[in-house]
Order: sequence, then C-alpha cells, then structure tokens
Amino acid sequence: MIVLGIETSCDETAAAIVTSDKKILANEIFSQLEEHKPYGGVVPEIAARAHLSFIENIIEKTMKAAKLEFSDLNGIAATGGPGLIGGLLVGIMTAKSIAFCHNLPFLAVNHLEGHALTVRLTGDTKGNSIPFPFLLLLISGGHCQILTVTDVGKYTRLGTTIDDALGEAFDKSAKMMGLGYPGGPAIEEHAKKGIKDKFKLPRPLKGRPGCDFSFSGLKTKVRQTIENLPSGRLKKSDIRDLCASFQHAAGDVLIDRSENAIRRFLSENPKGGHFVLSGGVAANIDIRKRLQTVAKKYGMPFASPPVKLCTDNGVMIAWAGIEKLLNKQTDNLSFRPRPKWPLDINL
Ligand code: KG4
Ligand code: ZN
Repeated sequence: MIVLGIETSCDETAAAIVTSDKKILANEIFSQLEEHKPYGGVVPEIAARAHLSFIENIIEKTMKAAKLEFSDLNGIAATGGPGLIGGLLVGIMTAKSIAFCHNLPFLAVNHLEGHALTVRLTGDTKGNSIPFPFLLLLISGGHCQILTVTDVGKYTRLGTTIDDALGEAFDKSAKMMGLGYPGGPAIEEHAKKGIKDKFKLPRPLKGRPGCDFSFSGLKTKVRQTIENLPSGRLKKSDIRDLCASFQHAAGDVLIDRSENAIRRFLSENPKGGHFVLSGGVAANIDIRKRLQTVAKKYGMPFASPPVKLCTDNGVMIAWAGIEKLLNKQTDNLSFRPRPKWPLDINL
C-alpha cells in the first residue's frame, strides 16, 4: 500500500510518500522560515499564501523523487487540522482534487495523530515496532499533552497544558533573548555551553498531582531575569546560561508530569507499553535523553521519531494515512478542515 501525505497546517509545506511496509519513498519539505523571520513568528496570512504558491511544486518533486505516478498510489492523505485554516484549506483541497481525479481514497489526518503514530513507522530505540497501547508525551509548538494511545483514532488524554505549549515557551523565551525564530533549536544550541543552575527559574506544577502542564510562569520569569540583567545587548554567557537554565527547568517539569502519567498508565495497563515522545520539541536531545532515562526507570521501552521527523513533515501524515486506510477509516470529500480538532474524542 502506498500513500501520499500532505502537511500544510503551520509553516511547513511538506509532502511525502510512504508504504505500508514502512519505506519512505520520498520526503520533501519547504520551510517558510524566511517568510516569517522578520515577524518573529508565523503570520497566518503569509503562511496561507506561501502554501498556495509552493504546494504544486512540492507534490511534483515528491512524485518525481519516488518515481511514481498518481495512479500507483492507494490513497491521498492531508492534514485536516488542527492548524491555521488557510494552510489546512490549501492542503485539503489539493488532496481532495488528486483523490477525485484519480479515484483514490481520501484521508483527512489529525496533525497530532501524525505526530503520535510516526514511531509506529520508525520503531523504538532497539528497532522494535510499537504496539498499542502506548503512553505518548506530545510536545510541539501548539500542543503539550500526555495521552494513552489505545488504537488508531483512540486516545485518552491524561494531561494538557493549562496555558502555553512548551514549543511556544521555547519560541517566546528565545525571542526575548534576541535569538530569532524558531526558538527551540537556538535555545538548544546555546544551552550546550551554558550553566543550567545559573539562573533560578520556576518548575510550574512540579510535585502537584495529575499530569497537566503550565509554562507561562517559566516564560514570565525568563522575561524578569532578562530585565534584571544590565540593560543593552545581553552578554553571550548570560544567554547561554539562561538557555541552559530554561531548558533544564522545562525538562524537570516534563519528567515530573511524565512520572505521574507513567504511574497511571501502568496501573491501567498492567502489561505495560512504550513511552513515546513526539512533536517538534522532541527534537531536543537533552529532553530526549532525560525522558528516555525516566522510561527506563519504570521499565518502559522508549521511542521517539528520528530528529528530522519530530518537527512537521509529510511522512507523519502519509504514515497516519496508511494506518487509517488499513483500518478502513477513509474520509468523505465533503470533509471540512478543523482548525481545532482534539485527539481525544470525548473532548
Ligand atoms: O511539531 P512542530 O514542528 O509544529 C507544531 O505542530 O507545533 O513543533 C514546532 C516547535 C517549535 O516551537 C520549535 O521551537 C520547537 O518545536 N522545536 C524545538 C526544537 N526543534 C523544534 N524545541 C526545542 N528544541 C529543539 N531542538
Ligand atoms: Zn506539529
């Protein structure tokens, strides 16, 4: 089974072709970084226009790279939400048109489900495949959630952020330090040479029951710390130390919340399961390592997509499309993009 996946929910115009026997035949991404850089964040109107002008070219490149014709495909998947409506419309309309013209099944993929299921394509740290159920910590620019994943389309949310997503906190803190957009990779890079306990930053909700997150207090403290430093351009050493302190504080919170979730998951699933880390922030090596250690402590095998498949891409959408197709969960061409689309159906 071969599926083309299209991702346009935020600032990446991406397409990929993946097979049901777990081969990635093509993976093309056009990142709109340069378009949004002057504004220090994603501008929805600019994103929508950029998706529209790049989508055709990206799909053509993807088909060429895989050396396939549309008639060789078994389905067309596109992100149906959550995300920015302009981009979602571009991806969904493109996918529907190809599906209609070539009489192929159409699959509207939940972007978060794309992040969630990627590890079932790429395997765990030992190269084993990942069965259901598994515990998922999804940390991206727009979301921060812990869920039990019982099947394709079946999620139970154990916790979520009550304010900012973690990626958002990375991006905003980086902006305050003058590090540009996206902030996550910049903070990770500077943190490598910083002292992690140089600045005293809070660990919101640490030690409290439950699995919810809060990052706005951490972000505010970063701002206050900067305000208390000598005015003018920040010293390089202060930037490095603040990055390291921020990253470590965020990691402490993730560990604390994950431990609560793991205990709950294991009590509800005595046979255990994988601990899966996904979403753009999962590209952060320090955070990956620390969460891998937590999983090990509880005897859970650990899995996270390869770094380049953590941030948005077409592969995750194509693979989720395959999983949906195998489960006969195809969508009607009347599907309307859903800017808000929680994974947990009870919400
Ligand atoms: O999953 P993603 O590509 O888009 C959303 O679905 O939101 O995640 C993007 C987020 C951004 O906030 C970015 O700063 C963050 O992931 N990110 C990182 C790293 N790489 C990307 N955060 C921390 N460390 C990184 N290496
Ligand atoms: Zn994403």
